[in-house]
Formats: sequence, structure tokens, C-alpha cells
Amino acid sequence: MADRVVLGLCGSLRQGSLNAALLRLVQRVGTGITVVGGDVAGRLPLFNPDVENDEGSWPASVRELRDLAARAEGVVVATPEYAHGPAGVTKNAIDWLVGSAGLAGKPTLLVSASPGQAGGMRAHAPLMPTLTLLGAVLVELRGRLPRGLADGRRR
Ligand SMILES: Cc1cc2nc3c(=O)[nH]c(=O)nc-3n(C[C@H](O)[C@H](O)[C@H](O)COP(=O)(O)O)c2cc1C
Repeated sequence: MADRVVLGLCGSLRQGSLNAALLRLVQRVGTGITVVGGDVAGRLPLFNPDVENDEGSWPASVRELRDLAARAEGVVVATPEYAHGPAGVTKNAIDWLVGSAGLAGKPTLLVSASPGQAGGMRAHAPLMPTLTLLGAVLVELRGRLPRGLADGRRR
């Protein structure tokens, strides 16, 4: 059976991003899924309703995001926490999906990585009502990852 396509949105532009690593980890431990679009959020322009309303003027990255979201059966959002909130890159990508049905009915997992005490969790609460409004079905990660898996020490 073909893998299920999962849209991965990474809200970090940083080289060596821990959240990008988390998305790669999801791909590695996820059975039967293919994570697509890992860097598309970082290539989007700032959301502008004027551009959104003129489909002919959409930049390639916006088309790519919309197409991937339409194809995906699930979504993983890996967002940094900045100042106790989500990264603007993450919210910007979600804003570009508001005018589509791209997230509707899709299982959606929010994950974060941060060396900070809460591990980036405080980025999640502000995103939840927005994702829910777009029809995303928020899911939780159950269980624990084996120690060392996230940094690649154990496979
Ligand atoms: C301006 C700024 C603000 C930050 N604020 C927080 C914060 O409030 N809580 C937290 O846990 N980490 C915070 N961090 C740490 C980042 O979440 C951490 O560096 C994380 O690894 C960034 O994601 P990335 O590795 O995917 O780029 C902040 C980092 C920066 C640069």
C-alpha cells in the first residue's frame, strides 16, 4: 500500500533547527507515512490577503503549500517557541491555509523542541484554536521516544 502523505510544516529558518530535526524524526519513526513540504513554510512570503485573492499572482511557494495541503492526509506542525508563543513563520504558514480546506478533517500533530524548560510547549496553546477553526483534528503523541532517538544516537 502506498505511504500516506503527511504535510510537515517547520516554523524555523535556522540552520541546525531542532524543529526541523523533529520533523525528520517523525519521518523516521512514522510507519507508512511520507512527510512532505518540510521547508515550504520558510519559503513563504508574509501573508497578504490581496495576493491570496489574486490566484494568478501566487508565488510558487504558496501554490506548493496549498497543493501539498490538499494532497496530505495528515499534518505535523513543528514550531519553535519564541517569547512564550509560536514562531511567526509557523503562524504565517497557517494564515496561508485559512482560505483553503487544506487542513479540514486532517489529523494534526503539534510538536516543538527547545532547550528551554517547557521544551517549546508554550507555543502550542495559541495555535490550537486557529487550527481547530480550520477544521484540523488535533491529535496527541502517545508514549515516549526511546532516550537518544531524537539526537540520532540510537536507531
Ligand atoms: C528570540 C528567541 C526567543 C525564545 N523564546 C523562547 C521561549 O520563550 N521559550 C523557550 O522554551 N525557548 C525559547 N527560545 C529558544 C528556542 O525555542 C530554541 O532556540 C529552539 O531550538 C528554536 O527552534 P529551532 O531549533 O527549530 O530553530 C527562544 C529563542 C529565541 C531566539
